[in-house]
Amino acid sequence: MSTSEIDPEAVQAQALERIQSADTEEALRAVEREFLGKQGVVQGLLARIPSLEPSQRGAAGKQANQIKGAITQALAVREAALAHAAMDAERQALGFDPTLPPPTVERGSLHPITQVTRELEDLFASMGYHILDGPEVERDHYNFEALNIPADHPARDSQDTFYCDQEGKLVLRTHTSPVQVRAMERLQPPFRAVAPGKVFRQESTDASHEHTFHQMEGLVVGKDISVGHLIGAMKTLLAGIFGRELEVRLRPGYFPFVEPGFELDARCPFCEEGCSVCKRTTWIELLPCGLVHPEVLRAGGIDPEEWSGFAFGLGLSRLVMLRYGIDDVRHLLSGDLRFLRQF
Ligand code: PHE
Repeated sequence: MSTSEIDPEAVQAQALERIQSADTEEALRAVEREFLGKQGVVQGLLARIPSLEPSQRGAAGKQANQIKGAITQALAVREAALAHAAMDAERQALGFDPTLPPPTVERGSLHPITQVTRELEDLFASMGYHILDGPEVERDHYNFEALNIPADHPARDSQDTFYCDQEGKLVLRTHTSPVQVRAMERLQPPFRAVAPGKVFRQESTDASHEHTFHQMEGLVVGKDISVGHLIGAMKTLLAGIFGRELEVRLRPGYFPFVEPGFELDARCPFCEEGCSVCKRTTWIELLPCGLVHPEVLRAGGIDPEEWSGFAFGLGLSRLVMLRYGIDDVRHLLSGDLRFLRQF
């Protein structure tokens, strides 16, 4: 058809119809080329304008541009519809139903021991303590020797200690106290440090004994450290943990690495007249502590003539049990989701 014979309205109608019936992307592109391409029909409409009467040129140009706009828009609409249909087909093929509710996502939570550990770390950090870490597989030297626990001490008995080698040079640490010596080797006095972590004992398990449990060691080294400093620090610690001041008392306790050594009891935070937690005594046994033995300072490379210190061993597992009213320590590391979901 020669350009002079083209009927612009018929062009638009035809283009729109062809676009509607194009059912693939390629078919659509072909229609686009045919109508909007360099050699296309709309170009033909524009090209004939110079041959028209001058008075008709304006209207013809406007019309051609309108047709071009209408075709462009129809192409875009059809293209979107085709893409949509393609996606639907793909979903159908995959058996995917977008109207179904999404799968439920199981959200985890922090283990109660982790929660209490982090809380205490924040508390101690706010009081200027370093937060330290130590190996769980520990050298006999740090776990016993440097802590003034001689080779024939009952705590070394194979009843309590998991040995990792034939010579007995490597053990699973039985307490966090080895970090005391490691801290002394690393830090310049005066300093304060706590070291939370897992400890291991070869014990038969029951509601209050577990072979793996958690402690937090504390060590403060400075000038003229006395039992008064120790009591003051423990009261601050308890206030941080239980939210209020608790009366404390010291009973003598023996640990080879402290002298004097104590068991610190606190007034039961849960009752006034006695309850099951304090076994009707109104006191709860809370933590062993004492002034660092001069031999231990020496083993850590610190001169006991110049420096002194106190240490304490917080039973993290026990504290968590107190805090949440857990009656069996074996729940803590059971991995039982029915237990863990409560936190
Ligand atoms: N390490 C000791 C234990 O686990 C506790 C302790 C720590 C005692 C610090 C005194 C000072 O039994």
